[in-house]
Amino acid sequence: MSLFQLQFIHRHRIVRLDDVPPQRTLLEVLREDLQACDAKEGCNEGDCGACTVVIGEPRDDGIHYKAINGCIRMAHSVHGMAIWTAQDLTQADGTPHPVQAALRDHHATQCGFCTPGFAMSLFALYQNKVCPQQAITPETAQHYLSGNLCRCTGYRPLVDAACSLNDSPVVTPDDVTLRTQLSKIEPRGLSNDNPYLQPHTLAQLLHLRRIYPQAQLIAGGTDVGLWVTKQHKQWLRIIDVTQVRELQNIDTQTTHVRIGAAVTLEQAWATLACERPELKRFWHRFAGLPVRNSGTLGGNIANGSPIGDSMPLLIALHADVVLAREEAGQVVERTMPLEHLYTGYRQNCLLQGEVLAYIDVPRPSANEWLRVYKISKRQEDDISAVCLAIQLKRDAQGVVLDASIGVGGVAATPVRAHQTQACLQGFAWDEARVKVAQQQLQQEFTPVSDMRASASYRSQVLVNLLQRAWYESQDMRCITLETLA
Ligand code: FAD
Ligand code: FES
Ligand code: FES
Repeated sequence: MSLFQLQFIHRHRIVRLDDVPPQRTLLEVLREDLQACDAKEGCNEGDCGACTVVIGEPRDDGIHYKAINGCIRMAHSVHGMAIWTAQDLTQADGTPHPVQAALRDHHATQCGFCTPGFAMSLFALYQNKVCPQQAITPETAQHYLSGNLCRCTGYRPLVDAACSLNDSPVVTPDDVTLRTQLSKIEPRGLSNDNPYLQPHTLAQLLHLRRIYPQAQLIAGGTDVGLWVTKQHKQWLRIIDVTQVRELQNIDTQTTHVRIGAAVTLEQAWATLACERPELKRFWHRFAGLPVRNSGTLGGNIANGSPIGDSMPLLIALHADVVLAREEAGQVVERTMPLEHLYTGYRQNCLLQGEVLAYIDVPRPSANEWLRVYKISKRQEDDISAVCLAIQLKRDAQGVVLDASIGVGGVAATPVRAHQTQACLQGFAWDEARVKVAQQQLQQEFTPVSDMRASASYRSQVLVNLLQRAWYESQDMRCITLETLA
Protein backbone atom coordinates (compact mmCIF):
# COMPACT_ATOMS: atom_id res chain seq x y z
CA MET A 1 0.00 0.00 0.00
CA SER A 2 1.35 3.47 -0.74
CA LEU A 3 2.11 5.28 2.50
CA PHE A 4 -0.85 7.56 2.17
CA GLN A 5 -3.31 5.31 0.41
CA LEU A 6 -6.84 6.09 1.58
CA GLN A 7 -8.71 3.00 2.76
CA PHE A 8 -12.23 2.67 4.11
CA ILE A 9 -15.13 0.21 3.98
CA HIS A 10 -17.95 0.98 1.53
CA ARG A 11 -20.55 -1.44 0.19
CA HIS A 12 -19.08 -4.24 2.29
CA ARG A 13 -15.60 -4.03 0.73
CA ILE A 14 -12.33 -2.26 1.47
CA VAL A 15 -11.98 0.68 -0.92
CA ARG A 16 -8.32 1.53 -1.65
CA LEU A 17 -7.56 4.83 -3.36
CA ASP A 18 -4.10 6.13 -4.17
CA ASP A 19 -2.96 9.72 -4.65
CA VAL A 20 -6.01 11.36 -3.12
CA PRO A 21 -5.09 15.04 -2.59
CA PRO A 22 -5.16 16.03 1.11
CA GLN A 23 -8.05 18.49 0.72
CA ARG A 24 -10.26 16.26 -1.44
CA THR A 25 -13.65 16.03 0.25
CA LEU A 26 -15.45 12.79 1.07
CA LEU A 27 -18.31 13.86 -1.20
CA GLU A 28 -15.94 14.30 -4.15
CA VAL A 29 -14.44 10.85 -3.57
CA LEU A 30 -17.86 9.22 -3.26
CA ARG A 31 -19.42 10.91 -6.28
CA GLU A 32 -16.44 11.22 -8.62
CA ASP A 33 -14.16 8.33 -7.70
CA LEU A 34 -16.73 5.75 -6.59
CA GLN A 35 -19.79 6.93 -8.60
CA ALA A 36 -21.83 6.76 -5.38
CA CYS A 37 -24.04 9.61 -6.57
CA ASP A 38 -26.78 8.92 -4.05
CA ALA A 39 -24.88 11.34 -1.80
CA LYS A 40 -25.96 14.67 -3.26
CA GLU A 41 -24.25 18.03 -3.51
CA GLY A 42 -26.51 20.90 -2.53
CA CYS A 43 -24.94 23.86 -0.70
CA ASN A 44 -21.45 22.35 -0.32
CA GLU A 45 -21.08 24.10 3.04
CA GLY A 46 -22.68 21.92 5.66
CA ASP A 47 -26.03 23.70 5.71
CA CYS A 48 -28.55 21.59 3.72
CA GLY A 49 -27.78 17.95 4.56
CA ALA A 50 -28.14 16.66 0.97
CA CYS A 51 -24.66 15.12 1.26
CA THR A 52 -25.30 13.38 4.60
CA VAL A 53 -23.52 10.03 4.91
CA VAL A 54 -22.99 7.80 7.93
CA ILE A 55 -19.55 6.88 9.22
CA GLY A 56 -18.90 3.83 11.39
CA GLU A 57 -15.93 4.57 13.59
CA PRO A 58 -14.33 1.65 15.50
CA ARG A 59 -13.85 2.69 19.13
CA ASP A 60 -12.95 0.62 22.21
CA ASP A 61 -16.64 0.35 23.17
CA GLY A 62 -17.90 -0.66 19.72
CA ILE A 63 -18.70 0.94 16.38
CA HIS A 64 -19.85 4.59 16.64
CA TYR A 65 -22.41 5.43 13.93
CA LYS A 66 -22.59 9.14 13.11
CA ALA A 67 -24.27 11.15 10.38
CA ILE A 68 -21.89 13.72 8.94
CA ASN A 69 -21.79 16.16 6.02
CA GLY A 70 -19.73 14.57 3.25
CA CYS A 71 -19.27 17.91 1.49
CA ILE A 72 -17.02 19.54 4.10
CA ARG A 73 -15.38 16.39 5.52
CA MET A 74 -11.86 15.66 4.23
CA ALA A 75 -11.85 12.21 2.60
CA HIS A 76 -8.62 11.18 4.31
CA SER A 77 -10.22 11.79 7.70
CA VAL A 78 -12.34 8.65 7.28
CA HIS A 79 -9.36 6.34 6.69
CA GLY A 80 -10.00 3.16 8.66
CA MET A 81 -13.73 3.78 9.03
CA ALA A 82 -16.86 2.41 7.31
CA ILE A 83 -19.06 4.64 5.15
CA TRP A 84 -22.72 4.20 4.26
CA THR A 85 -24.65 6.12 1.61
CA ALA A 86 -28.36 5.78 0.89
CA GLN A 87 -28.06 2.99 -1.68
CA ASP A 88 -26.27 0.81 0.87
CA LEU A 89 -29.35 0.57 3.05
CA THR A 90 -31.27 -1.79 0.78
CA GLN A 91 -30.88 -5.30 2.15
CA ALA A 92 -29.10 -8.08 0.25
CA ASP A 93 -32.40 -9.62 -0.91
CA GLY A 94 -33.62 -6.27 -2.21
CA THR A 95 -35.89 -5.60 0.74
CA PRO A 96 -35.87 -1.90 1.62
CA HIS A 97 -34.28 -1.03 4.96
CA PRO A 98 -36.89 -0.05 7.59
CA VAL A 99 -35.75 3.55 7.14
CA GLN A 100 -36.45 3.46 3.40
CA ALA A 101 -39.79 1.77 3.99
CA ALA A 102 -40.73 4.40 6.59
CA LEU A 103 -39.96 7.26 4.19
CA ARG A 104 -42.02 5.55 1.48
CA ASP A 105 -44.96 4.64 3.72
CA HIS A 106 -45.24 8.14 5.22
CA HIS A 107 -44.97 9.88 1.83
CA ALA A 108 -41.94 11.67 3.27
CA THR A 109 -40.54 12.65 -0.08
CA GLN A 110 -41.62 14.60 -3.10
CA CYS A 111 -38.91 15.81 -5.47
CA GLY A 112 -36.55 13.44 -3.67
CA PHE A 113 -33.46 15.65 -3.81
CA CYS A 114 -33.10 15.81 -0.03
CA THR A 115 -34.28 12.24 0.56
CA PRO A 116 -30.94 10.39 0.52
CA GLY A 117 -29.63 12.81 3.14
CA PHE A 118 -32.71 12.31 5.31
CA ALA A 119 -32.41 8.54 4.88
CA MET A 120 -28.86 8.67 6.21
CA SER A 121 -29.75 10.84 9.21
CA LEU A 122 -32.56 8.36 9.94
CA PHE A 123 -30.15 5.45 9.49
CA ALA A 124 -27.85 6.95 12.14
CA LEU A 125 -30.92 7.40 14.36
CA TYR A 126 -31.87 3.79 13.68
CA GLN A 127 -28.42 2.45 14.54
CA ASN A 128 -28.20 4.50 17.74
CA LYS A 129 -31.75 4.16 18.98
CA VAL A 130 -33.75 1.33 17.38
CA CYS A 131 -30.97 -1.25 17.52
CA PRO A 132 -30.38 -0.69 21.25
CA GLN A 133 -34.20 -0.60 21.69
CA GLN A 134 -34.40 3.04 22.81
CA ALA A 135 -37.63 4.92 22.03
CA ILE A 136 -37.69 7.59 19.34
CA THR A 137 -39.72 10.66 20.30
CA PRO A 138 -40.56 13.57 17.98
CA GLU A 139 -37.89 15.52 19.88
CA THR A 140 -35.29 12.80 19.21
CA ALA A 141 -36.34 12.76 15.57
CA GLN A 142 -35.92 16.52 15.25
CA HIS A 143 -32.54 16.27 16.99
CA TYR A 144 -31.34 13.72 14.43
CA LEU A 145 -32.88 15.59 11.47
CA SER A 146 -31.59 19.01 12.58
CA GLY A 147 -29.02 19.08 9.79
CA ASN A 148 -31.37 18.27 6.91
CA LEU A 149 -33.43 20.77 4.93
CA CYS A 150 -36.40 19.86 2.74
CA ARG A 151 -38.28 22.39 0.66
CA CYS A 152 -41.15 20.12 -0.34
CA THR A 153 -42.57 17.96 2.42
CA GLY A 154 -43.08 20.36 5.32
CA TYR A 155 -41.21 17.96 7.68
CA ARG A 156 -44.27 16.45 9.40
CA PRO A 157 -44.14 13.24 7.28
CA LEU A 158 -40.41 13.04 7.94
CA VAL A 159 -40.83 13.23 11.71
CA ASP A 160 -43.69 10.72 11.48
CA ALA A 161 -41.47 8.40 9.45
CA ALA A 162 -38.75 8.71 12.09
CA CYS A 163 -41.13 7.95 14.96
CA SER A 164 -42.58 4.96 13.10
CA LEU A 165 -39.17 3.30 13.30
CA ASN A 166 -40.03 2.39 16.90
CA ASP A 167 -42.32 -0.29 15.48
CA SER A 168 -40.09 -1.41 12.62
CA PRO A 169 -38.31 -4.77 12.47
CA VAL A 170 -34.81 -4.54 13.92
CA VAL A 171 -32.16 -4.97 11.24
CA THR A 172 -29.06 -5.22 13.41
CA PRO A 173 -25.76 -4.33 11.82
CA ASP A 174 -23.19 -7.13 11.70
CA ASP A 175 -20.64 -5.28 13.81
CA VAL A 176 -18.47 -8.37 14.26
CA THR A 177 -17.87 -8.81 10.51
CA LEU A 178 -17.45 -5.08 10.16
CA ARG A 179 -14.88 -4.97 12.95
CA THR A 180 -12.96 -7.83 11.31
CA GLN A 181 -12.96 -6.00 8.00
CA LEU A 182 -11.92 -2.74 9.63
CA SER A 183 -9.04 -4.48 11.38
CA LYS A 184 -7.64 -5.41 7.95
CA ILE A 185 -7.14 -1.72 7.10
CA GLU A 186 -3.55 -0.76 7.79
CA PRO A 187 -3.01 2.36 9.86
CA ARG A 188 -1.31 4.99 7.75
CA GLY A 189 2.29 5.94 8.20
CA LEU A 190 3.42 9.35 9.44
CA SER A 191 6.29 9.55 7.01
CA ASN A 192 7.16 12.84 5.42
CA ASP A 193 5.83 12.00 1.97
CA ASN A 194 2.36 11.57 3.43
CA PRO A 195 0.37 14.74 2.70
CA TYR A 196 -2.40 13.84 5.17
CA LEU A 197 -0.98 13.03 8.59
CA GLN A 198 -3.23 11.50 11.25
CA PRO A 199 -1.22 11.07 14.47
CA HIS A 200 -2.63 8.83 17.19
CA THR A 201 -0.80 10.24 20.20
CA LEU A 202 -0.22 13.76 21.52
CA ALA A 203 3.55 13.24 21.31
CA GLN A 204 3.27 12.30 17.60
CA LEU A 205 1.00 15.32 16.96
CA LEU A 206 3.36 17.75 18.65
CA HIS A 207 6.39 16.31 16.85
CA LEU A 208 4.67 16.64 13.48
CA ARG A 209 3.46 20.16 14.38
CA ARG A 210 7.05 21.13 15.21
CA ILE A 211 8.60 19.71 12.04
CA TYR A 212 5.79 20.86 9.74
CA PRO A 213 4.83 24.36 10.97
CA GLN A 214 3.37 25.18 7.53
CA ALA A 215 0.99 22.23 7.51
CA GLN A 216 -2.70 23.06 7.87
CA LEU A 217 -3.99 21.77 11.19
CA ILE A 218 -7.51 20.35 10.95
CA ALA A 219 -9.97 18.82 13.36
CA GLY A 220 -13.58 18.17 12.23
CA GLY A 221 -13.17 20.41 9.19
CA THR A 222 -16.46 22.26 9.66
CA ASP A 223 -14.68 25.58 9.35
CA VAL A 224 -11.68 24.46 7.28
CA GLY A 225 -13.94 22.46 4.94
CA LEU A 226 -15.55 25.69 3.75
CA TRP A 227 -12.11 27.16 2.97
CA VAL A 228 -11.81 24.19 0.57
CA THR A 229 -15.30 24.21 -0.96
CA LYS A 230 -15.82 27.98 -1.05
CA GLN A 231 -12.32 29.46 -1.27
CA HIS A 232 -10.73 26.48 -3.07
CA LYS A 233 -7.78 26.48 -0.67
CA GLN A 234 -5.19 23.73 -1.10
CA TRP A 235 -2.34 22.61 1.09
CA LEU A 236 0.78 20.54 0.59
CA ARG A 237 0.19 18.90 3.92
CA ILE A 238 -2.60 18.56 6.46
CA ILE A 239 -2.24 17.38 10.06
CA ASP A 240 -5.51 15.93 11.40
CA VAL A 241 -5.88 15.99 15.21
CA THR A 242 -9.08 13.93 15.44
CA GLN A 243 -7.44 10.53 15.99
CA VAL A 244 -5.15 11.71 18.83
CA ARG A 245 -6.23 9.54 21.73
CA GLU A 246 -5.48 12.06 24.49
CA LEU A 247 -7.48 14.73 22.68
CA GLN A 248 -10.50 12.44 22.22
CA ASN A 249 -10.89 12.03 25.97
CA ILE A 250 -13.30 13.60 28.47
CA ASP A 251 -11.91 13.37 31.99
CA THR A 252 -14.18 14.36 34.88
CA GLN A 253 -12.09 15.42 37.87
CA THR A 254 -13.17 16.78 41.27
CA THR A 255 -12.86 20.46 40.43
CA HIS A 256 -13.25 20.45 36.65
CA VAL A 257 -13.98 18.47 33.52
CA ARG A 258 -11.07 18.17 31.12
CA ILE A 259 -12.38 18.04 27.53
CA GLY A 260 -9.91 17.03 24.83
CA ALA A 261 -9.69 19.49 21.95
CA ALA A 262 -10.70 16.77 19.45
CA VAL A 263 -13.86 15.81 21.36
CA THR A 264 -16.77 16.34 18.99
CA LEU A 265 -19.14 19.19 19.70
CA GLU A 266 -21.97 16.70 20.22
CA GLN A 267 -20.03 14.84 22.90
CA ALA A 268 -18.70 18.04 24.50
CA TRP A 269 -22.13 19.67 24.67
CA ALA A 270 -23.68 16.46 26.01
CA THR A 271 -21.03 16.45 28.76
CA LEU A 272 -21.54 20.11 29.66
CA ALA A 273 -25.33 19.80 29.62
CA CYS A 274 -25.19 16.68 31.78
CA GLU A 275 -24.07 18.76 34.79
CA ARG A 276 -25.77 21.98 33.65
CA PRO A 277 -29.14 20.98 32.11
CA GLU A 278 -29.88 24.67 31.45
CA LEU A 279 -27.40 24.37 28.55
CA LYS A 280 -29.47 21.81 26.60
CA ARG A 281 -31.31 24.34 24.44
CA PHE A 282 -28.11 26.25 23.70
CA TRP A 283 -26.41 22.96 22.74
CA HIS A 284 -29.13 22.07 20.25
CA ARG A 285 -28.93 25.53 18.70
CA PHE A 286 -25.26 25.03 17.81
CA ALA A 287 -25.35 24.09 14.10
CA GLY A 288 -27.16 20.83 13.26
CA LEU A 289 -26.28 17.30 14.39
CA PRO A 290 -24.07 16.32 11.40
CA VAL A 291 -21.88 19.41 11.96
CA ARG A 292 -21.73 18.69 15.69
CA ASN A 293 -20.76 15.09 14.88
CA SER A 294 -17.71 16.25 12.94
CA GLY A 295 -16.87 19.62 14.49
CA THR A 296 -14.86 19.76 17.70
CA LEU A 297 -14.85 22.03 20.74
CA GLY A 298 -11.15 22.71 20.16
CA GLY A 299 -11.87 23.75 16.58
CA ASN A 300 -14.55 26.23 17.68
CA ILE A 301 -12.19 27.83 20.20
CA ALA A 302 -9.08 27.78 18.00
CA ASN A 303 -10.99 29.10 14.99
CA GLY A 304 -11.58 32.15 17.21
CA SER A 305 -14.57 33.58 15.40
CA PRO A 306 -15.87 36.66 17.29
CA ILE A 307 -19.30 35.02 17.05
CA GLY A 308 -18.24 31.50 17.96
CA ASP A 309 -20.85 30.14 20.36
CA SER A 310 -18.87 28.05 22.84
CA MET A 311 -16.45 30.77 23.90
CA PRO A 312 -18.76 33.29 25.67
CA LEU A 313 -20.19 30.41 27.70
CA LEU A 314 -16.77 28.96 28.54
CA ILE A 315 -15.52 32.43 29.53
CA ALA A 316 -18.49 32.81 31.88
CA LEU A 317 -17.72 29.38 33.33
CA HIS A 318 -14.12 30.48 34.02
CA ALA A 319 -12.80 27.78 31.65
CA ASP A 320 -9.06 27.43 31.04
CA VAL A 321 -7.37 26.27 27.86
CA VAL A 322 -4.28 24.05 27.98
CA LEU A 323 -1.83 24.54 25.12
CA ALA A 324 0.90 22.00 24.35
CA ARG A 325 4.04 21.90 22.26
CA GLU A 326 7.14 19.70 21.88
CA GLU A 327 10.38 21.08 23.29
CA ALA A 328 13.61 19.01 23.45
CA GLY A 329 11.49 15.90 22.89
CA GLN A 330 9.23 16.72 25.86
CA VAL A 331 5.58 17.82 25.97
CA VAL A 332 5.47 21.38 27.37
CA GLU A 333 2.09 22.71 28.50
CA ARG A 334 0.75 26.20 29.22
CA THR A 335 -2.59 26.92 30.89
CA MET A 336 -4.51 30.19 30.69
CA PRO A 337 -8.04 31.56 31.00
CA LEU A 338 -9.77 30.98 27.64
CA GLU A 339 -10.21 34.70 26.97
CA HIS A 340 -6.43 35.22 27.15
CA LEU A 341 -5.98 32.96 24.10
CA TYR A 342 -7.11 35.71 21.72
CA THR A 343 -4.87 38.59 20.65
CA GLY A 344 -7.06 40.12 17.94
CA TYR A 345 -9.58 39.32 15.23
CA ARG A 346 -9.06 35.61 14.55
CA GLN A 347 -5.56 35.94 16.10
CA ASN A 348 -4.32 33.88 19.02
CA CYS A 349 -1.22 33.54 21.18
CA LEU A 350 -0.37 29.99 20.11
CA LEU A 351 3.41 29.67 19.82
CA GLN A 352 4.97 28.06 16.75
CA GLY A 353 4.39 24.32 17.03
CA GLU A 354 1.78 24.75 19.78
CA VAL A 355 -1.72 23.22 19.66
CA LEU A 356 -4.82 23.56 21.80
CA ALA A 357 -4.86 20.30 23.76
CA TYR A 358 -7.53 20.53 26.47
CA ILE A 359 -10.32 22.74 27.76
CA ASP A 360 -10.73 22.64 31.56
CA VAL A 361 -14.27 23.58 32.61
CA PRO A 362 -14.93 24.07 36.35
CA ARG A 363 -17.74 21.88 37.67
CA PRO A 364 -20.92 23.57 38.93
CA SER A 365 -20.88 24.93 42.50
CA ALA A 366 -23.90 24.89 44.80
CA ASN A 367 -24.48 28.66 44.63
CA GLU A 368 -24.03 28.97 40.82
CA TRP A 369 -26.73 30.54 38.68
CA LEU A 370 -26.10 30.40 34.92
CA ARG A 371 -27.81 31.63 31.77
CA VAL A 372 -26.59 31.77 28.18
CA TYR A 373 -28.46 33.51 25.39
CA LYS A 374 -27.90 33.15 21.64
CA ILE A 375 -29.49 35.77 19.40
CA SER A 376 -29.48 34.72 15.72
CA LYS A 377 -31.69 35.30 12.71
CA ARG A 378 -32.90 31.69 12.66
CA GLN A 379 -33.65 29.61 15.70
CA GLU A 380 -31.98 26.55 14.21
CA ASP A 381 -28.67 26.02 12.51
CA ASP A 382 -27.55 29.65 12.54
CA ILE A 383 -24.59 31.48 13.99
CA SER A 384 -25.00 34.16 16.67
CA ALA A 385 -25.39 37.85 16.04
CA VAL A 386 -24.96 38.31 19.79
CA CYS A 387 -24.24 35.78 22.49
CA LEU A 388 -24.26 36.56 26.23
CA ALA A 389 -23.45 34.16 29.05
CA ILE A 390 -23.75 35.16 32.73
CA GLN A 391 -22.77 33.13 35.77
CA LEU A 392 -23.55 34.49 39.25
CA LYS A 393 -22.44 33.09 42.60
CA ARG A 394 -24.35 34.65 45.48
CA ASP A 395 -24.31 34.30 49.26
CA ALA A 396 -27.36 33.47 51.36
CA GLN A 397 -28.31 37.16 51.45
CA GLY A 398 -28.23 37.39 47.64
CA VAL A 399 -25.04 39.41 47.52
CA VAL A 400 -23.05 38.67 44.37
CA LEU A 401 -19.76 37.02 45.35
CA ASP A 402 -18.68 36.40 41.76
CA ALA A 403 -20.20 37.67 38.51
CA SER A 404 -18.71 36.16 35.34
CA ILE A 405 -19.93 37.42 31.96
CA GLY A 406 -18.81 36.23 28.50
CA VAL A 407 -19.96 38.02 25.34
CA GLY A 408 -19.79 37.21 21.61
CA GLY A 409 -20.56 39.41 18.62
CA VAL A 410 -19.57 42.74 20.22
CA ALA A 411 -15.81 42.88 19.69
CA ALA A 412 -13.03 41.45 17.47
CA THR A 413 -12.85 38.42 19.75
CA PRO A 414 -15.10 36.71 22.28
CA VAL A 415 -14.65 38.79 25.44
CA ARG A 416 -15.14 38.94 29.19
CA ALA A 417 -17.26 41.93 30.39
CA HIS A 418 -14.88 42.98 33.16
CA GLN A 419 -16.41 46.39 33.91
CA THR A 420 -19.96 45.07 33.99
CA GLN A 421 -18.88 42.26 36.30
CA ALA A 422 -17.35 44.84 38.64
CA CYS A 423 -20.72 46.64 38.76
CA LEU A 424 -22.32 43.52 40.19
CA GLN A 425 -19.61 42.09 42.41
CA GLY A 426 -20.23 42.77 46.12
CA PHE A 427 -23.71 44.18 45.59
CA ALA A 428 -27.11 42.62 46.11
CA TRP A 429 -28.50 41.22 42.85
CA ASP A 430 -31.59 43.46 42.54
CA GLU A 431 -33.36 45.39 39.78
CA ALA A 432 -31.63 48.69 40.59
CA ARG A 433 -28.21 47.06 40.41
CA VAL A 434 -29.11 45.36 37.12
CA LYS A 435 -29.97 48.78 35.67
CA VAL A 436 -26.50 50.02 36.59
CA ALA A 437 -24.98 46.95 35.00
CA GLN A 438 -27.04 47.43 31.83
CA GLN A 439 -25.67 50.94 31.38
CA GLN A 440 -22.17 49.71 32.02
CA LEU A 441 -22.57 46.86 29.52
CA GLN A 442 -23.69 49.29 26.85
CA GLN A 443 -20.69 51.53 27.50
CA GLU A 444 -18.22 48.65 27.73
CA PHE A 445 -18.55 47.50 24.10
CA THR A 446 -18.88 49.22 20.73
CA PRO A 447 -20.18 46.50 18.43
CA VAL A 448 -19.97 46.82 14.64
CA SER A 449 -22.73 46.47 12.05
CA ASP A 450 -22.57 43.56 9.63
CA MET A 451 -24.91 41.26 7.73
CA ARG A 452 -26.06 39.60 10.91
CA ALA A 453 -27.05 42.73 12.91
CA SER A 454 -26.50 46.49 13.24
CA ALA A 455 -24.31 47.96 15.96
CA SER A 456 -27.29 49.65 17.63
CA TYR A 457 -29.28 46.41 17.57
CA ARG A 458 -26.40 44.54 19.21
CA SER A 459 -26.05 47.25 21.89
CA GLN A 460 -29.74 47.20 22.67
CA VAL A 461 -29.91 43.42 22.73
CA LEU A 462 -27.14 43.29 25.36
CA VAL A 463 -29.26 45.44 27.67
CA ASN A 464 -32.34 43.34 26.97
CA LEU A 465 -30.52 40.09 27.67
CA LEU A 466 -29.44 41.34 31.10
CA GLN A 467 -33.07 42.32 31.70
CA ARG A 468 -34.13 38.79 30.71
CA ALA A 469 -31.54 37.35 33.06
CA TRP A 470 -33.02 39.47 35.86
CA TYR A 471 -36.57 38.29 35.08
CA GLU A 472 -35.46 34.67 34.86
CA SER A 473 -33.62 34.97 38.18
CA GLN A 474 -36.99 36.03 39.65
CA ASP A 475 -38.60 32.95 38.05
CA MET A 476 -40.75 35.07 35.75
CA ARG A 477 -42.29 32.89 33.04
CA CYS A 478 -43.40 33.47 29.43
CA ILE A 479 -40.38 35.56 28.58
CA THR A 480 -38.66 33.17 26.18
CA LEU A 481 -39.87 31.34 23.09
CA GLU A 482 -39.49 28.05 24.90
CA THR A 483 -41.61 29.09 27.86
CA LEU A 484 -44.26 30.64 25.60
CA ALA A 485 -45.00 27.22 24.07
P1 FAD B 1 -11.81 22.84 11.95
O1 FAD B 1 -12.63 23.40 10.86
O2 FAD B 1 -11.19 21.52 11.76
O3 FAD B 1 -10.65 23.89 12.37
C1 FAD B 1 -11.01 25.22 12.64
C2 FAD B 1 -9.75 26.00 12.96
O4 FAD B 1 -9.24 25.58 14.24
C3 FAD B 1 -8.60 25.79 11.98
O5 FAD B 1 -7.86 26.99 11.87
C4 FAD B 1 -7.74 24.73 12.65
O6 FAD B 1 -6.39 24.83 12.25
C5 FAD B 1 -7.90 25.11 14.10
N1 FAD B 1 -7.76 24.00 15.04
C6 FAD B 1 -8.60 22.93 15.15
N2 FAD B 1 -8.24 22.15 16.19
C7 FAD B 1 -7.13 22.74 16.75
C8 FAD B 1 -6.29 22.42 17.85
N3 FAD B 1 -6.50 21.35 18.62
N4 FAD B 1 -5.24 23.26 18.12
C9 FAD B 1 -5.03 24.36 17.36
N5 FAD B 1 -5.80 24.74 16.31
C10 FAD B 1 -6.83 23.92 16.01
N6 FAD B 1 -20.03 27.69 15.00
C11 FAD B 1 -20.63 28.21 16.12
O7 FAD B 1 -19.95 28.72 17.01
N7 FAD B 1 -21.99 28.16 16.27
C12 FAD B 1 -22.81 27.61 15.33
O8 FAD B 1 -24.03 27.58 15.49
C13 FAD B 1 -22.21 27.09 14.15
N8 FAD B 1 -22.99 26.57 13.16
C14 FAD B 1 -22.39 26.07 12.03
C15 FAD B 1 -23.21 25.58 11.00
C16 FAD B 1 -22.63 25.05 9.86
C17 FAD B 1 -23.51 24.52 8.75
C18 FAD B 1 -21.22 24.99 9.73
C19 FAD B 1 -20.57 24.39 8.51
C20 FAD B 1 -20.40 25.51 10.75
C21 FAD B 1 -20.99 26.06 11.89
N9 FAD B 1 -20.20 26.59 12.93
C22 FAD B 1 -20.79 27.13 14.04
C23 FAD B 1 -18.72 26.68 12.78
C24 FAD B 1 -17.94 25.39 13.15
O9 FAD B 1 -18.79 24.25 13.07
C25 FAD B 1 -17.38 25.41 14.54
O10 FAD B 1 -16.53 26.50 14.68
C26 FAD B 1 -16.63 24.11 14.87
O11 FAD B 1 -16.55 24.00 16.27
C27 FAD B 1 -15.24 24.05 14.27
O12 FAD B 1 -14.63 22.85 14.75
P2 FAD B 1 -13.86 21.90 13.73
O13 FAD B 1 -13.33 20.78 14.53
O14 FAD B 1 -14.69 21.57 12.57
O15 FAD B 1 -12.66 22.86 13.29
FE1 FES C 1 -25.35 20.92 1.72
FE2 FES C 1 -23.33 19.19 2.23
S1 FES C 1 -24.15 19.78 0.30
S2 FES C 1 -24.67 20.13 3.62
FE1 FES D 1 -37.87 17.88 -2.37
FE2 FES D 1 -37.19 17.33 0.16
S1 FES D 1 -38.49 16.19 -1.18
S2 FES D 1 -36.36 18.85 -1.12
